[in-house]
Amino acid sequence: MKRRVAVLISGRGSNMEALIAAAREPAFPAEIALVLSNRPDAAGLTTARQAGIRTEAIDHLAFGRDRAAHEAAIDAVLRAADIEIVCLAGYMRLLTPFLVGAWQGRMLNIHPSLLPSFPGLDTHARALAAGVKLHGCTVHLVTEEMDGGPILGQAAVPILPGDTEDGLAKRVLRQEHALYPAALAAFAAGRAAAVPDATAFLANPVPLTPH
Ligand code: GAR
Repeated sequence: MKRRVAVLISGRGSNMEALIAAAREPAFPAEIALVLSNRPDAAGLTTARQAGIRTEAIDHLAFGRDRAAHEAAIDAVLRAADIEIVCLAGYMRLLTPFLVGAWQGRMLNIHPSLLPSFPGLDTHARALAAGVKLHGCTVHLVTEEMDGGPILGQAAVPILPGDTEDGLAKRVLRQEHALYPAALAAFAAGRAAAVPDATAFLANPVPLTPH
């Protein structure tokens, strides 16, 4: 039986699209049963609908400052749809302990950095400013600590001389699209420890030469 997955998005939804494409494979151990957005105008909702996936928009603005009520509405939809695993994919609202607690151990997130480096926003600009030579993305379980839960998989991307924020973001995104389906497949099949490690995803490995 395929595990029933909901993908939560706030915008473009390219990671969602990668998950939908991967889950079309008969052997993939999960199906994308629902795509849910806190923004009714999220482009990803249209993409999901065109792919024949059920979508829901639960607009956080309609709940004012009542985050608990917004999350309760999300939780109710997830439960009514018999969802077993939640994948955050560019879902740009901080979650309260309520939703995190309700789905702990069953909620994954993709983050555009090699955690624990650069949690939070503007990860590519911060990686460039810090002068790190390796950047990338991480799929992890969601806990109450923002971007702090157990790591399921990572994909490394070398930072190249002259890299711009945009160029780097594009290269990392390509790796996100490979990493997230691989991590979800392993997790849904109960093989979370078997998520391929970073080296398997090195986009254009640069030979290491001595200086
Ligand atoms: C992705 O790069 C994802 O890693 C990032 O937002 C982008 C969403 O793109 N998520 C975060 O920054 C979470 N803090 P997408 O909508 O095209 O998947």
